[in-house]
Amino acid sequence: MKKICFWLCFAVSAFAQKFDGLAPTPPMGWNTWNTFAGNINESLVKETAEALVASGMRDAGYKYVVLDDAWLSKERDANGNVVADPVKFPSGMSALGDFLHARGLKFGIYNCAGAQTCAGYPGGRGHEFQDARTYASWGVDYLKYDWCNHGTADARETYKIMRDAIRSAGRPIIFSLCEWGDSKPWTWAADVGHLWRTTGDIMACYDCRQQWSSGWKVILDAQVGLEKYAGPDHWNDPDMLEVGNKGLTPAESRAHFSLWCMLAAPLMAGNDVRHMVAETRALLTDAEAIAIDQDPLGKQGSRFRTETGREIWIKELSAGDWAMCVLNTGLSSAEFVVEWNDFSFLKGKYTVRDVWAKKAIGTTSEKYSSRVDSHDVMLFRLTPIK
Ligand code: GLA
Repeated sequence: MKKICFWLCFAVSAFAQKFDGLAPTPPMGWNTWNTFAGNINESLVKETAEALVASGMRDAGYKYVVLDDAWLSKERDANGNVVADPVKFPSGMSALGDFLHARGLKFGIYNCAGAQTCAGYPGGRGHEFQDARTYASWGVDYLKYDWCNHGTADARETYKIMRDAIRSAGRPIIFSLCEWGDSKPWTWAADVGHLWRTTGDIMACYDCRQQWSSGWKVILDAQVGLEKYAGPDHWNDPDMLEVGNKGLTPAESRAHFSLWCMLAAPLMAGNDVRHMVAETRALLTDAEAIAIDQDPLGKQGSRFRTETGREIWIKELSAGDWAMCVLNTGLSSAEFVVEWNDFSFLKGKYTVRDVWAKKAIGTTSEKYSSRVDSHDVMLFRLTPIK
């Protein structure tokens, strides 16, 4: 018996791997946490799914509907299975999965590698294979796996268990590691998951800081240098979007969205899409900005230069195109001049499109100037003239 287990266990651990090819471009969707935290239920998720379809967000690419923490009952059942809170989700998770799939959406769920989730619900530790089978039976397509209450566990070894469990359950599920960057997952997680968080939690503010969370500019700064670790099927995750949420000005929402596209970040909307204003909808569904994020080359952008009052970010795109984003880090609006010949990596001449002004603004032979509000951006797409 021991012998069989030795060979079986060896075979599973030697050959188990993540499901390849599920995230050739950064995953896009909506997650409950940023706006609703623990106050989630079946009607909210269903209404949001309908709103994703009606608003055009699904068709813009936001397909994964992810239930974050607090969907669970406080206890596992008598057989040790995770169960959804029957009051919050009376129809159960299979039915919710069917509801989402019928609308061309995909089903995402959350749990935690530790003994309990961050909000105190049953975690996955010691139940990985059983839970993966449960999620597969519910039709889950995406699993976000958190890191609270992990005790002395090693992150890489722990996340590998869940990767192997998903593999053995047999349903292709995107595996999203939420380890907050503690053990530099970008150095080891490419063959474990499809994306990994690089920092603590995002908050709806520009550069505020708390112990476990911070504004998007603080998170943006922490991405510098990580660009070389990302690519198709293995993405750095600077956390979900706060676009449209109270705490950000419209300019700060636009800059946050633009820079997350420059980072080839997973785009998980975190607003109440049932009640978003037209401006937020237009921002989140902007096809040109999304094309920068979803570019098939899969290169994460990098900070090219920091100057007093502004930062310049660049991103290489397919077919020789480039994206550039200039962020006004100052406290007042400023006139910015862009001299294209400062960018030594550009080869030859390019046409330039101002993504937010929605217009062609000439070529890289002429310099360009425009007024940019505090914490707002200019976003350009350059295309080589052949
Ligand atoms: C952690 C994660 C968040 C969210 C909460 C839920 O803080 O980093 O993204 O999932 O847990 O409790």
